Amino acid sequence: MYQANPARYTSGMKYRRTGRSGVLLPALSLGFWHNFGDVTPEEQSRAIARAAFDAGITHFDLANNYGPAPGAAEARLGRMMADDFRSHRDELFIATKAAYDMWEGPYGSWASRKHLMASLDQSLRRMNLDYVDLFYCHRYDPQTPLEETLQALVDIVRSGKALYVGLSRWPLEAARTGYAYLAAHDVPCLIYQGRLNLFDQAPKTEGTLQAATAAGAGFISFSPLAQGLLTDRYLNGIPADSRMAHDPRFLKAETLTPQLLGRIRRLNDLAAQRGEPLATMALSWILHHTEVTSVIIGASSPQQIQRNLACLESPPFTAEELQTITEILNT
Ligand SMILES: NC(=O)c1ccc[n+]([C@@H]2O[C@H](COP(=O)([O-])OP(=O)(O)OC[C@H]3O[C@@H](n4cnc5c(N)ncnc54)[C@H](OP(=O)(O)O)[C@@H]3O)[C@@H](O)[C@H]2O)c1
Repeated sequence: MYQANPARYTSGMKYRRTGRSGVLLPALSLGFWHNFGDVTPEEQSRAIARAAFDAGITHFDLANNYGPAPGAAEARLGRMMADDFRSHRDELFIATKAAYDMWEGPYGSWASRKHLMASLDQSLRRMNLDYVDLFYCHRYDPQTPLEETLQALVDIVRSGKALYVGLSRWPLEAARTGYAYLAAHDVPCLIYQGRLNLFDQAPKTEGTLQAATAAGAGFISFSPLAQGLLTDRYLNGIPADSRMAHDPRFLKAETLTPQLLGRIRRLNDLAAQRGEPLATMALSWILHHTEVTSVIIGASSPQQIQRNLACLESPPFTAEELQTITEILNT
C-alpha cells in the first residue's frame, strides 16, 4: 500500500505559472514515453511514478500511443490511479495526446475531429479517468483544415473531457493560427510542447518559444536530456541498461558520433567546474529560460528522478559559461 511522502510539497519542488493561466506546473514533470510499456516490469514503472509524486512532481505527461504496445503506458497509469493515486487525483495534472498512429484504418491517426474525439475517449478508459487536465494535438496535420482540429479541441474542453488544451510540434505559423482560434473561442491554449535542450535549440531559433509566450501560453520542453545523451550515461561506451542499448527505436548508436561525444565530454567538464553532473546542468540550462514552464524528464529508475531534482538548486549561469556552451556546441 503506497503512502505518499507527507513532505512532497515542502521538500524543494518549485512551481511555475503556465503562461497567463491559473495553472502552476512543477519545474520538473514526468514523461511516460519510455519505461511505462509492456517491456518494463510494472513495479519499476510504479516506483518511478511514486518517486516523482513524492518529490512534488504533480504533472504526468502521456500520449495515446506511448508503450510498447500503443496504449500500454496509459493502461499502466490507469492501474496506478486505481491503486496508488486515487485519493490524489486532484493533486495531479495529467496530460495525454492524440494525432500519431494509434489504431488501424483511416481514423487511427492525424488530427481529424473523428480521431481526436475517439482517441480521447479511449485514453480516458485506459487511464481510469473521467477527464484529463490537458489534451494535446500531438502533431500538426497538413491535410486536415486547421479549423476542424481546433474546433475539436474547443469542443473537447466544452464537453468536460479535458480542462485545457495544448499544441505539440506545430510549426510556427500553424501554432500562431491555433493560438488565435482557441483564444477567439474562449479556450486559450494552455501550453506548447516542443523539444528544447542544449543540443536542439530550434524552438528559440525558429520562434515557437517566443510565439507561445506572446500568445500567453506556457512552454514545456520534451526530451530535455536528449534522451540521455546530455548525461554521463555515454561517456565511456554504451551501457547495457541504457536506452540506446535496449530500446534503440528512437536513440540509435549511430547518433553517438566522435564529434557528438566530444561535445558531451566538454559539456561534462563545464558541469564539473560548476560542481554538478551534466544532467543537472542540462536541465538547469533549460529552466534558466524564463519563458519555459517545465521540463518533462524521462527516468528509468527512481534514483534518476532524485538526482535530477538537483537542478532546482543549480547556480545561475555566468556570461562566460553561456559563451563556453555556445563555443562547445559550435565545434
Ligand atoms: N511531444 C512529443 O512529441 C514528445 C516527444 C518525445 C518525448 N515527449 C515527452 O517527453 C518525455 C521525456 O522524454 P525523454 O524520455 O526523451 O526525456 P529525457 O529526459 O531527455 O531522457 C530520459 C532518459 O535519460 C536518462 N537519464 C535521465 N536522468 C538521468 C541521469 N540523472 N543520469 C543519467 N541518465 C539519465 C534515462 O535513460 P536510460 O534509460 O538510459 O537510463 C532516461 O530514460 C517523454 O516521456 C514524453 O512524455 C514528447
